[in-house]
Amino acid sequence: MKVHLNDRLLLIAGMIPRGHAVADIGTDHAYLPIYLVQEGISTRVIATEITRGPLKRAIINVKKAGLENFIEMRHGPGLKPLSPGEVRTAVIAGMGGETIAGIIKDSRPVADSLELMLLQPMRNQPELRRQLFSMGFKIIEEDVAIEDSRYYEIMAVQRQTPGSIDDIDITVGPVLRKKRTPVVLRYIEHKIAVLEGLVQPLRAINTASGQKALEKYERELKMWKEVL
Ligand SMILES: C[S@@+](CC[C@H](N)C(=O)[O-])C[C@H]1O[C@@H](n2cnc3c(N)ncnc32)[C@H](O)[C@@H]1O
Repeated sequence: MKVHLNDRLLLIAGMIPRGHAVADIGTDHAYLPIYLVQEGISTRVIATEITRGPLKRAIINVKKAGLENFIEMRHGPGLKPLSPGEVRTAVIAGMGGETIAGIIKDSRPVADSLELMLLQPMRNQPELRRQLFSMGFKIIEEDVAIEDSRYYEIMAVQRQTPGSIDDIDITVGPVLRKKRTPVVLRYIEHKIAVLEGLVQPLRAINTASGQKALEKYERELKMWKEVL
């Protein structure tokens, strides 16, 4: 079984240093681990799952690919199934930003032992950045994948003193704010369009909660416009 990854997982795979032992947290179908071994990027992957259904599916896919000697499946939450030093890179993709931050917070000895974490939050990216900074992790790279007209932010993170940060680092990202690739520019324009769509109707609403939401979105809109 040859695996073909979608553009989101391909971008993540491309950020993994060749030769690293890798953990894929919440692997679901195990497509990323299978791809990493098939492409010679890694010869040792530990894939974890919290849910029995996906775990079974992943085990079947690894078997079909004939890669049981290279990919080990483990059942459990977040980084808990790992010991410090077992892998050099961990991928935590396709979950909410707060879930990802919680996974890191709950397993500091393992998280601190990693050379690299690749994180792909589906939502609450600013909250994830805020928590990463306060836990002492630095975002060293960021990128955006487009898949079926949806945008996915990907962050590469290391255990390093993050230095001083501002609101734009949290909201837009310390790397994305300076990145000028066509995809990132499209993403910034998309974020501006979405926020403008949220702000317009709120201007006509005079409730306290409406005003609070309006202020929040206007603040965010200003930051995204500032980096364009
Ligand atoms: C949307 S899928 C993403 C799968 C894959 N990582 C990807 O990016 O394509 C999320 C997977 O994470 C698993 N999951 C959610 N929370 C988890 C946790 N705390 N620890 C391990 N797995 C988790 C779910 O069971 C599900 O299979």
